[in-house]
Amino acid sequence: MINQFLTLQRRNPYPLYWVLRRVQPIVRIARYDLWFATRYDDVKKVLSDYEHFSSDFRRALRPGEELDQSSKISLIASDPPVHTKLRGLMTKAFTPRAVASLESRIGELTHELLDQVEDTGRMDLVQDLAYPLPVMVIAEMLGVPASDRDQFKIWSDAIVRSADDIFSSTEDERGNRAGADAPLGSGEMGDYFKKIIDQRRAVPQDDLISGLVASEMDGEKLSEWDLLDFCSLLLVAGNVTTTNLISNAVMLFMQHRDALEAVRTNSALLPDALEEVLRLHSPVQFMFRVSSAETELGGRAVPPDQRVIALIGSANRDESQFENANRFDISRKPNRHIAFGQGVHYCLGAPLARLEAKVVLNILLERLPNLARSTSGALPPTDGVILHGVKNLPVRWDVQPRVMAV
Ligand code: HEM
Repeated sequence: MINQFLTLQRRNPYPLYWVLRRVQPIVRIARYDLWFATRYDDVKKVLSDYEHFSSDFRRALRPGEELDQSSKISLIASDPPVHTKLRGLMTKAFTPRAVASLESRIGELTHELLDQVEDTGRMDLVQDLAYPLPVMVIAEMLGVPASDRDQFKIWSDAIVRSADDIFSSTEDERGNRAGADAPLGSGEMGDYFKKIIDQRRAVPQDDLISGLVASEMDGEKLSEWDLLDFCSLLLVAGNVTTTNLISNAVMLFMQHRDALEAVRTNSALLPDALEEVLRLHSPVQFMFRVSSAETELGGRAVPPDQRVIALIGSANRDESQFENANRFDISRKPNRHIAFGQGVHYCLGAPLARLEAKVVLNILLERLPNLARSTSGALPPTDGVILHGVKNLPVRWDVQPRVMAV
């Protein structure tokens, strides 16, 4: 039942968020054993106060969700001090310089994808561009063949869908959570990355996996499990999130032609415009935490071991923080959105996501004149309750007559 409700909500969750922020900013839904925080300050607190709101979801497992005893804790699901060490090691291999150096390659990959559709004058912006591009980029960063990207997508989608389990009330609906998590360190995906890690240990290359294998802090290296976990985390975290940023940006520009014209004539406006896209249609709508001690949140006492959902998508529309919060204003300043999270878990890939979106949007505006939606009406929401975006976005443009060489 809540799943159907959430499907409707996924298209336009904002009116409900608005009501909750006013009427019940901290709300507990007993049946699903979940607390929701909806106001900007509360969401920020949940995301950043790791002493009271832990990322270690093992604290609040339900019956039937037992994890394999051998399972260890990953970057995104750990708290300091374990998180500090893991993040330090991973950041070393994921430097701003390494990301910036990808700019021209992202451009080439975007052009390659557009070459395949340009003459037709139409494409599904999600399936033909925003979906494949981030996987190709991650695959190249990690140093795995782009030809394996269809397989990557299958693994990534399976992991994204497993996050929906949190809203399932019965064990049947939920399936075996441990099973859904299996791709992280075991199964086909684990075997796939193990092979590549072994190859890079033997013969290092100029890629992220080789960097991670060599990465060392205080004489300590990442274990094989940590390496596998990080590869799979990047595959998921760096993939569909960026897809939704790109497609949400195009959607908003299609709806706001003045903003589109402004960035088309002055591309220097694009970075701020993308921040506004991230705020207004945050690709990641929420993150989970577990209360680790009795604590106060928005005036309510939250007992220990409670699952708390920090609604980023609602925080980014909180009128106490953003004037005319529902308006798409590409010149909004300041724009302190929290689409990439807050605190120690702040998105490691934010510079990459911003770069990819900037490069893609610039190329789209340059290459495809009169870009517009080719259908009207509601579009199907993307899979995975955590994400916000559309599954398909059919667009068209004017095909330029080819100049024949004489
Ligand atoms: C628009 C695109 C993206 C959005 C909206 C986004 C959003 C987020 C958010 C909200 C978090 C915080 C998680 C938490 O507090 O528990 C996060 C963490 C993370 N993101 Fe992203 N992300 C995006 C793109 C990427 C990309 C491209 C990568 C990598 C290639 C990436 C890698 C990560 C990693 C590794 C973490 C975990 C950091 C930690 O736990 O210390 N993300 N992301």
